[in-house]
Amino acid sequence: MTALAAVAPTPDSRFNEARTWSAFGTAWSSAEQKTLECCAIRVETDDVKTFVFRCPDLVALAFEPGQFITLSLTLDGQPLSRCYTLSSTPTRPFSLAITVKRVPGGPVSNWLHDHLRVGSRVRAAGPAGIFTPVGHPQRKLLYLSAGSGVTPLMAMTRAAFDLGSDPDIAFVHSARTPKDIIFADELARLQAARQHLRVFAVCEALGGVADWQGPLGRLDLPLLERLVPDFREREVFTCGPQGYMDAVQRTLREGGFDLAHYHQESFAIGSPTAPVEAASTAVGATLFTVTLARSGKVFSMAGNQTVLSAARRAGAIVPSSCGQGLCGTCKTALLDGQVEMQHAGGIRQREIDRGLRLLCCSKPTSDLVLDL
Ligand SMILES: Cc1cc2nc3c(=O)[nH]c(=O)nc-3n(C[C@H](O)[C@H](O)[C@H](O)COP(=O)(O)OP(=O)(O)OC[C@H]3O[C@@H](n4cnc5c(N)ncnc54)[C@H](O)[C@@H]3O)c2cc1C
Ligand code: FES
Repeated sequence: MTALAAVAPTPDSRFNEARTWSAFGTAWSSAEQKTLECCAIRVETDDVKTFVFRCPDLVALAFEPGQFITLSLTLDGQPLSRCYTLSSTPTRPFSLAITVKRVPGGPVSNWLHDHLRVGSRVRAAGPAGIFTPVGHPQRKLLYLSAGSGVTPLMAMTRAAFDLGSDPDIAFVHSARTPKDIIFADELARLQAARQHLRVFAVCEALGGVADWQGPLGRLDLPLLERLVPDFREREVFTCGPQGYMDAVQRTLREGGFDLAHYHQESFAIGSPTAPVEAASTAVGATLFTVTLARSGKVFSMAGNQTVLSAARRAGAIVPSSCGQGLCGTCKTALLDGQVEMQHAGGIRQREIDRGLRLLCCSKPTSDLVLDL
């Protein structure tokens, strides 16, 4: 038998084009809620499970690898929304998976772990987010993740290989211990099957696993240089706790990496159920009057607060999830007035032109009338 010659990876433009991913299924917007039925549950680690869903009418749904959906649940009578990245690949669009880590004391992650069963149904708003390969240069890739931050990068890895290409991916995942490495077996199988995927796990501690051969500690510049010496030539995608991503950015900067090729997604948020911020009564803060057109509520708020937190304090029920202008859950029509909005991709220009705003990242610059 003749061995196959080593082939240099050729960039595959399909990976970076929106039309590749939209072709796999029916469009589902982040403004539209659908019912999803759980059809499988997999235990990944002690505190991580994957929940696989399908549409009850078996429709294939399109999304870009790396995007998230927003689940809406009512727990103890309280409506709660949370974003979850689709860890499955858009190339297999008849089912959608989310991979959820338990957050101690967190209502939604614990409810999913303890109560969601095969056959359970949930409501979810469609895919959103710009942490995807779409529109980025076709370069060699470096995926850096920690903990549940592995999910968008796993979706991208699965999607790239399902396209039939073998892109050059260096995937460095950090975990607490070897037992906490999510998708360890699948990544090992993919690595064995593909010439240009290299997977490295970095563990902070052994956690009782005596035969761990991989690096111990945290990812720093000497370790990155050793694992991925050509990291400066790569497009970097990072996802993990905020402290981890701050450290990654410092490491890359220290290593002379051009941060124009750096992309990150944060899961870390303030508790979305609590008022977003305390009332500011700073002397001298400009006060504005906000009218909620549907409920007739009128309240005043300071110009240095977000409209979401002020509306919540005034008793308005405004759904929200990410609290950082990312997911689109708090999108509301501004009927009159002006706000300063600093969003992170959760709203499109055409929606802004139609008068919609994300209240979690909007501060008033005049009196307001909202469609609430
Ligand atoms: C765009 C996006 C994608 C996400 N994708 C995933 C995913 O694929 N898998 C996943 O498990 N989670 C993901 N999350 C986080 C998820 O939305 C929830 O925040 C998480 O499941 C906790 O929800 P909860 O209701 O249990 O607890 P919450 O009420 O949300 O949180 C309870 C407490 O824990 C803190 N906290 C919340 N989330 C985290 C976190 N990730 N790390 C550390 N502290 C936290 C909060 O500040 C709060 O004080 C994503 C978040 C965003 C914004
Ligand atoms: S809550 Fe996510 S965009 Fe406002």
